[in-house]
Amino acid sequence: MSLQLNRQEFGRPEDASNVLSREEAFQLFHEWVLNPKLQLHMLQVAQLMRCWATEKEQANEADQWRWEMAGLLHDADWDQWPELHCKKIIEHLEALHIDPEIIRAIASHGHAHFGVVPVTRMDKMLYAFDELSGLIHAYSLMRPGGYEGMDVKGVKKRLKEKSFAANVSRDDINDACERAGIALEDLIAFIIPIQATVTL
Ligand SMILES: [Fe+2]
Repeated sequence: MSLQLNRQEFGRPEDASNVLSREEAFQLFHEWVLNPKLQLHMLQVAQLMRCWATEKEQANEADQWRWEMAGLLHDADWDQWPELHCKKIIEHLEALHIDPEIIRAIASHGHAHFGVVPVTRMDKMLYAFDELSGLIHAYSLMRPGGYEGMDVKGVKKRLKEKSFAANVSRDDINDACERAGIALEDLIAFIIPIQATVTL
């Protein structure tokens, strides 16, 4: 199964800053994503994107939502149409004339799979959060206290254990940190407290 998108251009420049309302985005989210585990993952990544935009990119309210929306919808087609991941959500957002930056970020969140290189800050952070967020969540599930008392050292240990959350690509995580210009430790430290607050 090839998920390669075979293109690098997404959306139309004239649609820049066109977004779904929060209500519309959540309606799409609930219609397309039925698996609660995947829903939680997407909500976690959405929150990480919003917080990063707010704290590190000095984004205004409109941009915070653009970042959050990219996180919220990045895996929207994975639950029901895995063979069309992430072609289906991209084409859907293009048909709705959504901001090309949001579409591009979604298209590049797994660049080894989709063949789209992360370029913008939004692209790079979505790519960086995706896999690492999943591994940290898996770690929380095996700890008696969940996120309580979780530290960077513990996460790094799990990263080194190849058998732990074996489907999480360590190569992607390292590649993403390098592209984003962020130390792995800093990214882990950013993710833990935010993710601890996200529930379904
Ligand atoms: Fe994801």
